[in-house]
Amino acid sequence: MTSTQAARQPIIQRAKRKAERMLGPAGIFFKGFLKHPAMVGAIVPSSNRTIERVLSKVNWEECRLFVEYGPGVGTFCRPVLEKLRRDGRLIVIDTNPDFIEYLQKTIGDSRFIAVHGSASDVEEIVRAHGFENADYVLSGLPFSTLPEGVGPAIMGATHRVLRPGGAFLVYQYTARARDLMGQFFRHIDKGFEPLNVPPCVISWGWKE
Ligand SMILES: C[S@@+](CC[C@H](N)C(=O)[O-])C[C@H]1O[C@@H](n2cnc3c(N)ncnc32)[C@H](O)[C@@H]1O
Repeated sequence: MTSTQAARQPIIQRAKRKAERMLGPAGIFFKGFLKHPAMVGAIVPSSNRTIERVLSKVNWEECRLFVEYGPGVGTFCRPVLEKLRRDGRLIVIDTNPDFIEYLQKTIGDSRFIAVHGSASDVEEIVRAHGFENADYVLSGLPFSTLPEGVGPAIMGATHRVLRPGGAFLVYQYTARARDLMGQFFRHIDKGFEPLNVPPCVISWGWKE
């Protein structure tokens, strides 16, 4: 890198930070959708009604490790951190490095860990942070558009990483994830939230 290029770096970084501030979380999310439509799978973040409904079955007293797949710009992260115990941990995993960088910059909570990676590696990621199991795993992944074989791999890894009595909380725009969940989880609670863009199917898969 030349000295002129090096001198330009902080200016570019400052301009990027300013653009991000102006865009806000919804803008960053939409930018992520334009870059990777199949991976992101939605044009706007989840609604408050969806967040409350999906989290309504969590026993926060018994939750030491909460894992989230596909946090995007953190729509669920802040409500989860508000409810999580003071000694709890929230590990979020996303394949999009722009989202992870954004979350690391904007969420300053010592219980929060943002990992750039795939949900299919959840077992290694959980172990790398000193845990054997997760109490709850939340997913906003677009199961219908994930590459061939990735959905079943994620479902299997999630079933293994959950503690007995823990749950996999899934919200999606089709019933695809629920069908897949049925191959691994015997007890599934079902819900639907119309006030979301688009309306979404909610499933809570309980580990025996
Ligand atoms: C529909 S968006 C979720 C948005 C956000 N959770 C919300 O409620 O507004 C899907 C997210 O899944 C991420 N993603 C896609 N495939 C993934 C994978 N294999 N592992 C982890 N994250 C993935 C995308 O980068 C994107 O952030």
